[in-house]
Amino acid sequence: MFSVVVLVSGAGSNLKALLEATSNPMFPAQVVGVGSDKASIALEHAEQFRVPTFVVEPSGFSSTEAWAKVLLSNVEYLKPDLVVLAGFMKILPANFVNALSPRIINLHPSLLPEFRGAHAVRDALAAGVKKTGATIHIVDEGVDTGKILLQQEVEIPAGISEPELLTKIQVVERQQLVEAVRMLASGELELAGS
Ligand code: GAR
Repeated sequence: MFSVVVLVSGAGSNLKALLEATSNPMFPAQVVGVGSDKASIALEHAEQFRVPTFVVEPSGFSSTEAWAKVLLSNVEYLKPDLVVLAGFMKILPANFVNALSPRIINLHPSLLPEFRGAHAVRDALAAGVKKTGATIHIVDEGVDTGKILLQQEVEIPAGISEPELLTKIQVVERQQLVEAVRMLASGELELAGS
């Protein structure tokens, strides 16, 4: 069975959608572990689905690389076919990314390459664009720069607030994540180099 480790930092709505999808025995992938950089609500979703969790907090380490090395050893112990960054809000250093790429993907709430970084929804509103979207891409050493796998547009209605727009994007990105994992597990989508 195609195995997935999900890394999270926050609410975990995307993780929850993937856990629900993979709990169907007909789905061609399973989540074998969920990791986080801090205690988060997302870990509770994993526990509800009886998926093992691990937390590696950066604060206990002398460098980002040292932290990432321990995070990587937790991930590699589970031998996943794919690692999904689903709202994992720390930038991962090269030693982590290079050990896993291209088997590591990220969800981003914009139509990349537009609005990279941690405030994509706010930045799209500030730019006054009429549409944004959801993107899944392979993670490389840059920030939101890797090869795009799937992308879907979301319209921005006049006067919409940042939380409302994020909610609208997340409806799309949850479906996109489940579809990406299904396609990767079944060989319909390939992870080529970024
Ligand atoms: C998602 O919308 C994801 O696209 C975004 O964080 C949210 C996590 O939500 N990621 C980024 O902005 C990465 N740059 P969730 O914890 O409810 O899945």
